[in-house]
Amino acid sequence: MKTAIIYSTTHGTTEKVALRIKELAGQENTFLFNLKDGSPFDLDAFDTIIIGGSIHAGMLQKRVKDFCKQHTLELLQKPLGLYLCGMNEPEYDAQMEKNFPQILRQHATAMETMGGEFLFDKMNFFQKLIVKKVSGISESLYKLNDEKIQSFVFKLKDVKTKSPVL
Ligand SMILES: Cc1cc2nc3c(=O)[nH]c(=O)nc-3n(C[C@H](O)[C@H](O)[C@H](O)COP(=O)(O)O)c2cc1C
Repeated sequence: MKTAIIYSTTHGTTEKVALRIKELAGQENTFLFNLKDGSPFDLDAFDTIIIGGSIHAGMLQKRVKDFCKQHTLELLQKPLGLYLCGMNEPEYDAQMEKNFPQILRQHATAMETMGGEFLFDKMNFFQKLIVKKVSGISESLYKLNDEKIQSFVFKLKDVKTKSPVL
């Protein structure tokens, strides 16, 4: 059972979540692909696909959106997990709906916003300004929810053991 986690990250938090998923899902059979690296990979080589990204000013990284559009048909053939990182909790559901296509959301076995982090040491001047203005926060803040990550992985593991095609 091989799992691919395909993601994009701005300050590293989505990657941190990908590494945690790998730890929980099985180090040996879980492979991470950062879309920014552009290294080629073959979706056919994996049994389960997980797609992750983060929200900035309401938007998921374009790379992730483009990947979903280009590979919709393949993604519909396998167990799928979709996750986001974000800090604006009241908007989690709306951001999920707005940023992942409905057809993939309906197909997904697990779908979750894992929380996120404000990492001021990694932000540029404008990002700091936006975060301060919108959230009133001016220091780094950790808000990743490990329980959500665990339950996300559990749902995907469950479908793997039940699915007749695997
Ligand atoms: C400039 C900026 C804008 C952001 N806008 C949003 C937002 O609209 N909604 C939200 O839920 N989180 C927002 N966040 C929080 C990020 O989603 C959070 O920092 C996340 O952990 C980033 O993950 P990454 O490092 O993988 O990109 C914003 C963060 C920054 C720095």
